[in-house]
Amino acid sequence: MAKYIIEGGRPLRGRVKVSGSKNAALAILAATLLTKETCEISNVPDISDVEIMCKILEDLGAEIERRAKAIKISTRLVKSYRPSPSLVGRMRASVLLMGALLGRFGKVIIPHPGGDLIGPRPIDIHLDGFRSLGAKISFKNNLYFLSSSGLSGQKIIPRQESVTGTENIIMAATSASGKTTLRLAACEPEVEDLINFFKKMGIRIKGGGTHQIEVFGPASPKGVKYAIIPDRIEAGTFAIAAAATKGDVLIEKIRPDHLESFLNKLKEIGVNFKVGKDFLHIKSSPHLRAANIKTAQYPGFATDFQAPISALLTQAKGRSLIFETIFEERLSYISELVKMGAAAKILNPHEAEILGPTKLYGTKLRIHDLRAGATLILAALVASSKSEIHQAEIIDRGYENLEGKLLSLGAKIKRIS
Ligand code: EPU
Repeated sequence: MAKYIIEGGRPLRGRVKVSGSKNAALAILAATLLTKETCEISNVPDISDVEIMCKILEDLGAEIERRAKAIKISTRLVKSYRPSPSLVGRMRASVLLMGALLGRFGKVIIPHPGGDLIGPRPIDIHLDGFRSLGAKISFKNNLYFLSSSGLSGQKIIPRQESVTGTENIIMAATSASGKTTLRLAACEPEVEDLINFFKKMGIRIKGGGTHQIEVFGPASPKGVKYAIIPDRIEAGTFAIAAAATKGDVLIEKIRPDHLESFLNKLKEIGVNFKVGKDFLHIKSSPHLRAANIKTAQYPGFATDFQAPISALLTQAKGRSLIFETIFEERLSYISELVKMGAAAKILNPHEAEILGPTKLYGTKLRIHDLRAGATLILAALVASSKSEIHQAEIIDRGYENLEGKLLSLGAKIKRIS
């Protein structure tokens, strides 16, 4: 098991480039199953979740060439609709193979996806969507069996918004005959990126960043070249790192329009920053104020920022209240922050309070999930002594070369494998 050793207390300074979006890349890679033509996807982040998705696709028969941040993929020879259970068990996003394989073959056999420990992750919205399109579904020996003798377009209103649920339903709908209207669709930029990919492939689809999406099928998607959007969560993580260490960092290659509620919150907290066309400049911010956080679907404050921003709030004056509305177990990092000296408390499974500012001290810490892991790294960068953060591999799932990028900003961080 790898670990990070971090000696905190240094303001981060310099410039850093944001990589491609993890969650957009995972959906788009799965969606390449919908065409037998070759796709060239660029700005793909070099992270372990992408590696797992590529392994699953290769195991199914896809041919993949990877050069730097570009992936050339042909799924022409894919004959199997049974992704490897052991690989699927390693990553939640493998749920996206359901919609893609159902769209390609009209059938799929797949276990419940694995992934981060952030609470129960039901997939009923995905399954209800597939059923509405005409798929038959059974569950036996820990495997879902989905099949259809021809999907047909329908009007679908899920019981609530779901990011991968939306992506899965529209992937399957591309092969359904007639029009599918999905209401209460998720509006996240990663969903919109998948829709833009579809549009480029020649699929007739209306919407993207909207609560209503219309898909006109069946489609014959073409192979295309496509560049993935920047990772908004990585951008925000560096913004917090800069502000919390009272540093000065230029964060480049970002989409500011994907960060609006996050930036509004930084402003409320008193972070000094300037936004440009594709950059965010965090400047020294000596007076940080407490703020209340309530997570919401896009364009609200993203659950993936909830834990990281708490590291910043330990340095802000006053009482901050955190309200996690999306996932059940996303406050696990609070007990680790307390070990570091934070005055933080879990009030109930969804709420926590943080009193600040407090001095943080380095100690031995354990990562529970990706964003909680990023939070502990942020706190360790602030702490006045050495931290040892175990299970560093969890960070590799979603942050490309985090150690190298932080080193280039002057952090004292070492990874020991
Ligand atoms: N939900 C259900 N039933 C379903 C699907 C979702 O009850 O069938 C519930 C979930 O339990 C949750 C809510 O609906 O309470 C919203 O979950 P959603 O389905 O939108 O989440 P997801 O698609 O599983 C994606 C991202 C997550 C991100 C969430 C929320 C991917 C691969 N994952 O998950 O990313 O936190 O949307 O924005 O796109 C991360 O990157 O660290 C991460 C966890």
